[in-house]
Amino acid sequence: MRRQFASGTNIGGQQRYSNQEMNRRQFLTAATSLIAAQPLFSRQFHAADARIEILLDEPGATIAPEIYGHFVEHIGGNVYDGIWVGDQQSAVPHINGVRKELVEALRKVKPGMIRWPGGCFADQYDWRDGIGPRNKRPRRTNFWVDAHEWSANADRRGPQVYEPNTFGTVEFARFCEQVGAQPYFAANVRSLPAEQLFQWIEYCNSPAGSTTLADQRAADGHPEPLNVKLWGIGNESWGCGGNFDPEDYAVEFRRYTAWTPSYGLKLAAVGSGPPDDNFAWTRRVFAKLGGEGINSMFGWAMHHYSWNASGHPHAEWYKAKSDALKFDSSQYYSLLRDADDMDRLIRTHWDVMAESDPAHKVKLVVDEWGAWHSPGTEPFPEALLGQQNTMRDAVVAGMTLDTFNRHADKVAMASVAQLVNNLQSLFFAHENRFCLTPTYHVFDMYSAHQTGRSIRSVISAADIHYTWDDKPAAMPGLSSSSSLKGNTLTVTVTNPSIDTAKSSEIVVRGGRIQSVSATVLAAKDVHAHNSFDNPHSVEPSTITLTAEGPVIAHTFPPASVTKLEVTIG
Ligand code: AHR
Repeated sequence: MRRQFASGTNIGGQQRYSNQEMNRRQFLTAATSLIAAQPLFSRQFHAADARIEILLDEPGATIAPEIYGHFVEHIGGNVYDGIWVGDQQSAVPHINGVRKELVEALRKVKPGMIRWPGGCFADQYDWRDGIGPRNKRPRRTNFWVDAHEWSANADRRGPQVYEPNTFGTVEFARFCEQVGAQPYFAANVRSLPAEQLFQWIEYCNSPAGSTTLADQRAADGHPEPLNVKLWGIGNESWGCGGNFDPEDYAVEFRRYTAWTPSYGLKLAAVGSGPPDDNFAWTRRVFAKLGGEGINSMFGWAMHHYSWNASGHPHAEWYKAKSDALKFDSSQYYSLLRDADDMDRLIRTHWDVMAESDPAHKVKLVVDEWGAWHSPGTEPFPEALLGQQNTMRDAVVAGMTLDTFNRHADKVAMASVAQLVNNLQSLFFAHENRFCLTPTYHVFDMYSAHQTGRSIRSVISAADIHYTWDDKPAAMPGLSSSSSLKGNTLTVTVTNPSIDTAKSSEIVVRGGRIQSVSATVLAAKDVHAHNSFDNPHSVEPSTITLTAEGPVIAHTFPPASVTKLEVTIG
């Protein structure tokens, strides 16, 4: 079960003042004394609701493109219909069987990495079913066959239920090549032996003509190696990935990764980490892994979904979610607060990992994140776990990506769940219809951060107060991250307030501002969303701003996501 947490302070590279420490009057007083002490602040500052101070002289780690990753599981309408529309016979425009509009739109947001084939599906998947002639591949029962979320009228005989395996290893690798992403494979630890991981790696990476499996890969259409470097060792191994206890999983991790052939690549193994704040799972796996185990681990996966969970026993978690479209302000804030908890989770798992890995050889991989709503707003009935995507979800995406940017020293990769027609997706796609969600636009705006140096910033904004479960709760008034690439400073800001615009001063320290533009994603109503019938309801717009010395004055609309692009002299 999730809780509402007290508001935090000093979070990552972004300092936040909570209302416990500073109410609005104190904030304004403090601000006024800062103005007196530092004439750089503009005269209007005391009238602003918030301030973001960006410290160019304090660069942090480089923001890995893999933080801007995606997740493709064989679930609902994600792979079949969403991505794979079939080869030559398909009426939907495609490139080698993959939906053309999807390839073009995804390529534009520069996906750093794509995780596949699950999720829970991964620990039931036999990679050998997805190779060889497509019309001869076996049909299997999909992991999600009995999911209680199936809507009553879904056609349960479709590829979503009886997996045709037409989208296998080479089809997925080609999709990654088409969109410019690194493939990240999740290996089956629950129901395949370690030998099958070795052979899957051999199929993917052994040189052309060198092995029987390399010949098979050539027959499947890809003579050259696929060069798959990123390998997840199981998924949610504490649950659908095998119900392991931490010590047993650590032993499996060592067994699956020891002495793996590398084919000259630097293979990166990712351990199957905790859900949310299960710090004991992290502590116990790391303690058991020991030096050798830790040395063979590149990343430690963590999953954190955001939902309105309250008043339901854990076994009934699926009832605890609320509607994607119908939500009140209390549900709105409680979901955002849960998303904002990502910051605490990253910091705390990082500290726990340091108990066994003080040099921090292992980085964090948040390979499933996003908002998860109750069934009922699927774009079409077969889209299991499909849900609508409003400005609220866009704010979740902005806040979460800001958190990853601020923790670029800790987070090596992350993937939003999931790519098409599923959970917090970037796309809806069905037959010949296609549409971008507000979350897509956030990824488009934030792609400017990739490979930039994360820059420390200090935010002063009064907390937002709301009621949840009849109790008072609070969350930070603004969220932000900054990065510098060449002479371009990118500052992204979300204003989570459902109804209040925030006049703000953005102060750039350590450089001269030459020009500023703002790209703003906002809507009159926070419930606004895109659909097949109305695909352009929520779209960003760009305006030019002027700076006064080091100060940019801008008002962030309610429930908005903004990108400032600042050229530094
Ligand atoms: O993303 C849907 C499911 O959520 C994944 O299969 C699983 O890993 C997680 O519990």
